Amino acid sequence: MKKLLRPHILNMEPYTPIIPFEVLSEQLGIPANKIIKLDANENPYGILPAVAKALQDLSNAHIYPDPESRFLRRALAEYHQLPVENILTGAGADELIDLILRLFINPGEVILNCPPTFGMYAFDTAVNGGRVVNIPRLDDFSVDADALLNAIEKYQPKLLFLANPNNPDGGLLSPKIIDALLEQNLLLVLDEAYMEFAPPNASYIHQASERENLIVLRTFSKWAGLAGLRVGYGVFPSALMPYLWTAKQPYNISVAASEAALAALRHARELEEIGQKIITERERLFKALKEITYLKPYPSKSNFILCRVLGREAAKLKADLASSGILVRYFSNPGLDDHIRISVGTPEQMDVLLEYLTTKSTETTQF
Ligand SMILES: Cc1ncc(COP(=O)(O)O)c(C=O)c1O
Repeated sequence: MKKLLRPHILNMEPYTPIIPFEVLSEQLGIPANKIIKLDANENPYGILPAVAKALQDLSNAHIYPDPESRFLRRALAEYHQLPVENILTGAGADELIDLILRLFINPGEVILNCPPTFGMYAFDTAVNGGRVVNIPRLDDFSVDADALLNAIEKYQPKLLFLANPNNPDGGLLSPKIIDALLEQNLLLVLDEAYMEFAPPNASYIHQASERENLIVLRTFSKWAGLAGLRVGYGVFPSALMPYLWTAKQPYNISVAASEAALAALRHARELEEIGQKIITERERLFKALKEITYLKPYPSKSNFILCRVLGREAAKLKADLASSGILVRYFSNPGLDDHIRISVGTPEQMDVLLEYLTTKSTETTQF
């Protein structure tokens, strides 16, 4: 059987997702509601009461969803003041990343990737038989603009994915770099999964429907707290829309996801207030982390903070935190293996974390 598989799948590295919440709770022997989950940049406030109500009241889950997600797309168009014709929804931004690659990439074609960054760009490129060429970021995690522009000239890639703000460091791209990339002969995909936590003028969402070579992706997973329901969207150039409609899975947004996202948009004000709370807490967390001698936090415009761990093992710190029921993200990849990424939680959760980091963790092995 194995020999029947497509060769690029045989040679592919699997995606390493975080261990599911329930499984970890079982492994640690800590009840799920006692775990402080700061490892996947989810919304610590959960879903809005209005979303819970919409889910409770679902009456048409036995019927296939609208393949065009008309109501949701209309609500998004109204929320952003954008043409509905340029908006496509997906089962998370993840589905749209894969869809874009499926539309453009022939086996063996090159996609440039700027690690450290969100793993799905390289993963989906590999699934689609593309070849990833890495252009590593600089020490401060900003994009190496010169190297990237040189690589664009050399490889002539069709697409370029960049997270703005970037995951895992939370930094924004400079408008100068974005403008230079928009001048290139490629389709730029700006992944704005965390843009709701950044200054409003940093977004390029309003340019995507006006330009020919810009896609902007967004998600309900982070600011709206719907990560478990899988709903995201993108704003695309008009010329691309017919092909996206042709290639997309027809029933990609479930009835539940659609109703939840609609309820979230009807209460967008409340979500914006929660977003503000998270931003305020991020700034407090950043200041507090700076005071911890063995951590070097990077400034973030997102809902997480990346910290370099100095003089001790980051993996051990992550494991010690986990055994106390505090989950943070550790990456074993070279260049990041001495870092942890902490999602911004509620003030109460951050107090517990900071208490641990300033007192208990002095017991962690040092080297
Ligand atoms: C930069 C970035 N884009 C997209 C996603 C995934 O979004 P979704 O949950 O909508 O698939 C993530 C999730 O961590 C992310 O970090």
